[in-house]
Amino acid sequence: MLELLAPAKLNLGLEVIRKRDDGYHDLTTMFCAVSLFDKIRIHRSATDALVVSDPALRDGNLILRALDLWDAAGLNRPALEIILRKRIPAAAGLGGASSDAAAVIRALAESSDFGTGAPEVTSLAARLGSDVPYFLRGGRAIGEGRGDLLRPLPYIRLAAVIITPALEIADKTRSMYAALGPDDFSDGSRLQRLIEEPYLIFDRRDASMPNAFERPLYAFYPELASVAAAIRVATGQIPSVSGAGPSLYLLARTLREAHDMRRIVAGLNLAVPCALFCVRAIRSNAGFAKRRG
Ligand code: C5P
Repeated sequence: MLELLAPAKLNLGLEVIRKRDDGYHDLTTMFCAVSLFDKIRIHRSATDALVVSDPALRDGNLILRALDLWDAAGLNRPALEIILRKRIPAAAGLGGASSDAAAVIRALAESSDFGTGAPEVTSLAARLGSDVPYFLRGGRAIGEGRGDLLRPLPYIRLAAVIITPALEIADKTRSMYAALGPDDFSDGSRLQRLIEEPYLIFDRRDASMPNAFERPLYAFYPELASVAAAIRVATGQIPSVSGAGPSLYLLARTLREAHDMRRIVAGLNLAVPCALFCVRAIRSNAGFAKRRG
């Protein structure tokens, strides 16, 4: 039996640069893996089965698509029972589904003697979704192209309070990209500055990290804008958007500082009920698979 931890990510800035001919968008983002995890247990079994703690997330789950693509590529594996315990909120801008699929691909690759960097494995990950290749390694990285061209960056110590509103956005990622207007595109230079001077992410006088989805999200979901405004007034910090939202986060230098901010946010009467998580940055996904029994 194998037990895997699949971490969430935050986007420490996300600029959308252009729409491409294939319908995707080129972007520049800084991914950072954080200590909020889904747990996955994998057993050999007579037939494939996926059990999810939230049964609504079973059909169309990216783990099932990962198994299908693995088989379609002619790669070998045993039949597996996979038990997924979700803690990362779904479709919330935190990469949970992509991380779950990447964790399973890593486990399959490692048990087949492929490295996780093998071209078969990375191209399979990219076909599953734009964020999946990032989660093969995790840690902090720049994502370019549609998010799948990656450059690892050194670890920096940071903590955060993640604020995930109970807001369901149908077909979220696709519809948020479609909602971008001409002024939401930018040239990547603000991200470039954050790459060169990563500690600017803690600069609270700045308008936090840029995120191209912030304007359309706040325009289409004014209740989210009012959550962000209330948090800003109460904490003196501008919340940032992760991915295509709707999760927001506040950065801190230490978990203790994050817990203090969490208490402030928990005391607010927000326009939308929100789940709150205190997290810290994690170095990489290496060592997150444990063999038991
Ligand atoms: O790659 P993924 O399956 O996460 O993308 C979902 C949808 O989001 C795509 O079909 C596309 O409409 C949009 N997308 C995009 N540009 C990206 C990533 C996603 O337009 N870089």
